Amino acid sequence: MIYELNINKQTYQIEADADTPLLWVLRDILGLTDTKFGCGAGLCGACTVHIDGMAQRACLTPISEVTDAEILTLAGILETETGKKLQQAWNDLDVVQCGYCQPGQIMSAAALLEETGKPSDQDISNSMAGNICRCGTYDRIRQAIHHAASIELPHTMEPAK
Ligand code: FES
Ligand code: FES
Repeated sequence: MIYELNINKQTYQIEADADTPLLWVLRDILGLTDTKFGCGAGLCGACTVHIDGMAQRACLTPISEVTDAEILTLAGILETETGKKLQQAWNDLDVVQCGYCQPGQIMSAAALLEETGKPSDQDISNSMAGNICRCGTYDRIRQAIHHAASIELPHTMEPAK
């Protein structure tokens, strides 16, 4: 069957079975490899994307459920103000080790910051609990989320008329 998907504000038409996981569509059909395959079973968070603003597991999401949804991957979130703050914070605190889990970590962190401007440690623990990092970067991720929440991005001035 043909499905139309809205991913990072672009429309894609793909042919696949209704129960094909979104993660397979992103990586294997569309070549959008910024979303990572970890466990394929909803256990690690590597495949986290935003579906209508909510952090969701792409490996557990059949494409037939997201045809009317706005889907954002890491590439899409990095175009947003929240994504830019997180990218800066991740760089400032040198969060990344091997990097494999980090797209999913940033997607969960972005959903948290968009819901809660200044999250507490408990908010961070609750929101990030499903994202596993085998390199153990958890403390830096926590610090980077607090840091991102305090970043003020320079705003582009309107040209004088
Ligand atoms: S690949 Fe989806 S949760 Fe691990
Ligand atoms: S940075 Fe290596 S798995 Fe998280």
